[in-house]
Amino acid sequence: MTIHFPVEEAVKKRYSVRNYKKQEVELDIKNKIDTFIQSLDNPFQKEVNFHFLETKDADDQQKLGTYGVIIGAKQYIGTTIKQEEMALEALGYELEVLILYLAHLGIGTCWLGGTFNRKAFANAMNIRDEELFPIMTPYGYPAAKKHVKEAIMRKMVQADQRKDWAEIFFQNDFQTSLLKEAAGDLSFLLEMVRLAPSASNKQPWRILLKDNICHFYEYKEPNYSDRFTYDIQRVDIGIAAAHFDLAANEKGIKGSFALGMQPDLLLPANIEYVFSWIRD
Ligand SMILES: Cc1cc2nc3c(=O)[nH]c(=O)nc-3n(C[C@H](O)[C@H](O)[C@H](O)COP(=O)(O)O)c2cc1C
Repeated sequence: MTIHFPVEEAVKKRYSVRNYKKQEVELDIKNKIDTFIQSLDNPFQKEVNFHFLETKDADDQQKLGTYGVIIGAKQYIGTTIKQEEMALEALGYELEVLILYLAHLGIGTCWLGGTFNRKAFANAMNIRDEELFPIMTPYGYPAAKKHVKEAIMRKMVQADQRKDWAEIFFQNDFQTSLLKEAAGDLSFLLEMVRLAPSASNKQPWRILLKDNICHFYEYKEPNYSDRFTYDIQRVDIGIAAAHFDLAANEKGIKGSFALGMQPDLLLPANIEYVFSWIRD
């Protein structure tokens, strides 16, 4: 996977687009997207499958069902995985790399994990029963204005806000916040994570820097993932890994992700270790 777009620009350009223009994404651009998808991989070595769907007109989407959340979209990408460890993180990583690439091309998307009729879309995309289908996104050109429900949703989850550094980044233990000044050249990588999207904008990523290793944790919101058969916030942690990794590559900062490196620390309530990134 080689990335040829400026990461910060794409991260800042991306937002959840829920209102789309009629204009479809042209065939040559679709082919480019397809080629980009073929090139995707992830640090967790789990397979992520992508499924395209074209509907004839935007009304079809009413039948398929996004509950009035997405308006005007005719094109979708669904993602499926085998239900196994690190697969949700792999999905988060690969789909976010794709979504940033699309943002770079001026194409809007919206992560959907809850507000879509999974059965109807699974049927339309020929997704087999044994595949886990946690997420899909519409894609297309953003309409000039947000629709009313979209504006309300953004307000409800404070979509334009992100948590402060002190709340999500730590040094040596969970009692000590990592300040931007102390993070040195890692500060850009962490800032890119801070700006990432997450389910209901809950921003569950916590990163702890210790001995040149960044340990990634999930703040698992009590009762939040219970309505799914999997932990949707693990997808958020995969998205964080994508932002971190793309930023590291761009800055020429070398390192790699590893599992099972959990330091011996006292963890605050509801915090779960997920993986680490070791600097070379
Ligand atoms: C894993 C995941 C699942 C999401 N599921 C939905 C969803 O079902 N419906 C929806 O409207 N937005 C969904 N979102 C979008 C978030 O609400 C959005 O990313 C967040 O509020 C921040 O806003 P922004 O993307 O515009 O920066 C999801 C985002 C992620 C990362």
